[in-house]
Amino acid sequence: MAEPRRQNKVLGGATALAPLHPFVDLHLHALPGVDNGPTSWSAAVELCVQAAHNGIGHAVLTPHFRGKPYAERIARLSSRLIRLRETLADRGLAMQVALAGECRFDAFLHQAIQTGDLPWLGRWQDEYVVLVEFSDARLPAKIVPAIEWMRARGIRPMLAHPERIREVQLRLQSLAPLVGAGLLLQVDADALAGGCGPFAQETSLRLLREGWVTVLASNAHDLVRQPPRIEPGRVVAAEIVGEAASWELAALRPARIAAMHFPALAAN
Ligand SMILES: [Fe+2]
Repeated sequence: MAEPRRQNKVLGGATALAPLHPFVDLHLHALPGVDNGPTSWSAAVELCVQAAHNGIGHAVLTPHFRGKPYAERIARLSSRLIRLRETLADRGLAMQVALAGECRFDAFLHQAIQTGDLPWLGRWQDEYVVLVEFSDARLPAKIVPAIEWMRARGIRPMLAHPERIREVQLRLQSLAPLVGAGLLLQVDADALAGGCGPFAQETSLRLLREGWVTVLASNAHDLVRQPPRIEPGRVVAAEIVGEAASWELAALRPARIAAMHFPALAAN
């Protein structure tokens, strides 16, 4: 069934039409029982219902990949993705889901890059994107050569929630060599809106002013503590970068990245 549409002047002029669910979420923990996201199928469905209610029409799910080989985990998660898709379709939910991962920067990621068993987030220009996470304390040692090593293999790393990293909070310019090497930055929308505390909020605002933020995402885990919403952060971003650029960060650019999973988004 065709999705209902409404006029939206922001996404391309007064005559352009945009979906009722404009957001494409590139960071969502909605598969049950696989990480610190929902613990049951009912909670997973409720999380997706709330995401759709908050305007998220497409989501690339990003369960954690930490400390274990990738291939077996991808296979296990893929079967859960199929079940979730079937469940959401049965509920008539206007939300599409695909599978990627949030990959800890560890030896197992290094191994997966060599074997090609990676949970791709999408594509950025001519490279495949993988969502990575660092520790909340500091940037990894020798990270610039690691980024260059990935890019030499056609892989573009996107860092989840850089605003949480203490070293970045204390010295924003510590990220400059990484951004210069091509690291993409994904900021939690709720961090901009203040939902992740004052240090993360201030850092996310500074990243935005620096022009380093590639996309916003929800990083939702549940309905209360980390809920599935992007709009509050987009509104804050719009105050700094303007309405059009805020939609680029929250909807249009994520759509282009995720079009690998959702071909219908390729027209964005
Ligand atoms: Fe996450």
